[in-house]
Amino acid sequence: MNRAFAFTANIKTAATSMRLPTIVVGMIFSVWMGTAQTVVNSKHDLSTGNTGTTQWQSTNESQVCIFCHTPHKSIPGVKPLWNKSLPSNTTFSVYSSPTLDATPNPNLAGSYSLLCLSCHDGVTAMNALVNTSTVGQPAMAGNYTKLGQVYYPGSIFAEFPGANIGEGYGGVISNNLSNDHPINFVYDPAHPDVTKGTLHNPDTQPSGIGGTVSQKMLYDHVLECSSCHNPHNPTHAPFLKKSNSNSSLCLTCHNK
Ligand code: HEC
Ligand code: HEC
Ligand code: HEC
Ligand code: HEC
Repeated sequence: MNRAFAFTANIKTAATSMRLPTIVVGMIFSVWMGTAQTVVNSKHDLSTGNTGTTQWQSTNESQVCIFCHTPHKSIPGVKPLWNKSLPSNTTFSVYSSPTLDATPNPNLAGSYSLLCLSCHDGVTAMNALVNTSTVGQPAMAGNYTKLGQVYYPGSIFAEFPGANIGEGYGGVISNNLSNDHPINFVYDPAHPDVTKGTLHNPDTQPSGIGGTVSQKMLYDHVLECSSCHNPHNPTHAPFLKKSNSNSSLCLTCHNK
């Protein structure tokens, strides 16, 4: 709904702007064209239709959503209508520090973050779908099925942090989130840092994307990967929920 509405609004903006000088029209149009608010042809489009935004691409599966969701026979109990095999090991080492008040739960079972780690752990195959189309398990270009096949220590891509957030590779399950922003913990108005004033009250703080932080960025008051990322929208790379220019994403929650 939101996306469709924003899209219509954008068309209107572009149409109205036809009366403006050509250069402005061009600028507005290029911004409009450049901000495709869709998963299609983003790095999360693993279908045959992707025109090359990522090398993890199927050679025979043309559906986009199927790599993550299915309308029927999804994994029982796994929301939202999840179609992608989950990591066999759900426990990850999590960030800790002397000043951290929250207690991140290292077992991601049942969390939305585990959905991300079902590809970003580096070792779980991205074509391991539960409800396949008529092509069966999708075949992948170059047989690349795991992020850890490219991003591993010693590879030519090793100096880039890359998409291998969980840091598993070559069959080695690393499950390392200790150098990543903490996730899978409660952030509610009772959080000690809200009382101290160094974190905003999530129930009243505007998210900047409509609604409060609790409504738009937390999942029953739990902070997840999707608190900062929107896996469907590449507009604010890399799949950020909102622009982080001037650290505006960070400052949505942190009062620094
Ligand atoms: C790369 C994986 C991936 C792909 C591809 C993907 N999604 Fe999702 N989707 C997710 C994840 C993870 C969530 C839950 C976390 C969140 O909402 O950020 C989600 C949530 C949703 C939700 C519920 C929450 C919301 O945002 O409304 C809907 C509906 C949805 N997806 C539809 C789709 C459709 C339709 C497609 C294909 C056009 C699609 N998704 C493609 C990963 C994906
Ligand atoms: C079906 C597998 C799959 C799932 C599930 C998935 N991703 Fe990805 N993700 C990928 C692939 C493949 C890439 C592209 C890697 C590359 O080309 O280097 C990627 C890239 C990314 C990037 C980098 C984008 C960029 O512009 O460089 C981010 C950020 C990201 N994913 C976040 C997430 C988050 C957050 C979730 C869960 C909400 C998630 N992903 C779920 C497969 C997945
Ligand atoms: C507190 C906000 C926040 C949370 C939570 C978060 N991310 Fe990110 N993520 C970012 C920002 C900002 C960037 C871009 C800057 C960077 O690359 O460090 C990013 C970058 C990435 C990238 C691209 C890395 C690269 O260098 O190309 C991936 C993949 C990713 N995140 C996945 C995840 C996954 C998976 C989770 C959950 C385990 C997660 N993120 C949780 C904010 C967050
Ligand atoms: C959705 C809300 C939210 C967003 C967005 C967010 N954070 Fe956080 N962040 C938190 C919460 C809550 C904690 C846990 C604080 C605690 O318990 O001490 C935290 C923890 C941290 C910590 C660890 C603090 C410690 O004491 O060790 C750092 C550093 C941090 N965030 C930086 C960032 C940066 C940088 C960004 C932007 C890229 C960001 N955060 C975005 C909510 C958020």
